Amino acid sequence: MDILKERILREASVINSDVLKLDALLNHQVDPVLTMEMGKEFARRFAEQSVTKVITVESSGIPVAFATALALDVPLVFARRKKTLIADPDALTERVPSFTKGIVTDIMVSKQFLSSDDNVLFIDDIIANGDAARGLIKIIERSGAQLAGLGIVVEKSFQAGARTIREQGIVVESLVKVASLEDGIIRFE
Ligand code: G4P
Ligand code: NA
Ligand code: NA
Repeated sequence: MDILKERILREASVINSDVLKLDALLNHQVDPVLTMEMGKEFARRFAEQSVTKVITVESSGIPVAFATALALDVPLVFARRKKTLIADPDALTERVPSFTKGIVTDIMVSKQFLSSDDNVLFIDDIIANGDAARGLIKIIERSGAQLAGLGIVVEKSFQAGARTIREQGIVVESLVKVASLEDGIIRFE
């Protein structure tokens, strides 16, 4: 998505060789028009998949997941994050480490909103090591739902997350792939 590459070059900043600050586009401020374009692009790429629901993890995945759900005319479910989780028999939970925050959180989806009748499209903002993504994929598998694929706005392809998920046989579609952040320069694939 060329328009997204341009916006990233203009509005993102390189924190270090691993981390790209995307507050202006994804993690603090969102551009509704650009976000709707992202949603339409994911909807186009997964149009043949008979998606019944879009799913993401709170919080930064929600705007683009919403835009995708609107374009596909299906509901959006967002997994909740909790510091400590009270055991709940009606919920599916996974413990995941967070790359940027250096903490462990539990992600949770109520069984009410994910079942074996669903074919879900998982949308997220950024993929790095993929820990959060793998956690949600496990929840989807345990629910009995089908996973139509994974749509990512910014794939950092120099980190292993997206690759290892593709190796599981899951379709991963990224709007942009960042190959390197070395020397403070954003290099796309
Ligand atoms: P993930 O690849 O499945 O997201 O898991 P990982 O453990 O690698 O990343 C955990 C968190 O760190 C995610 O946010 C992810 O978006 C964020 N992250 C990873 N690399 C970068 C980066 O280069 N820039 C920015 N801005 N964020 C990065 P999260 O914990 O899900 O938080 P939230 O943003 O959704 O609230
Ligand atoms: Na994030
Ligand atoms: Na996210």
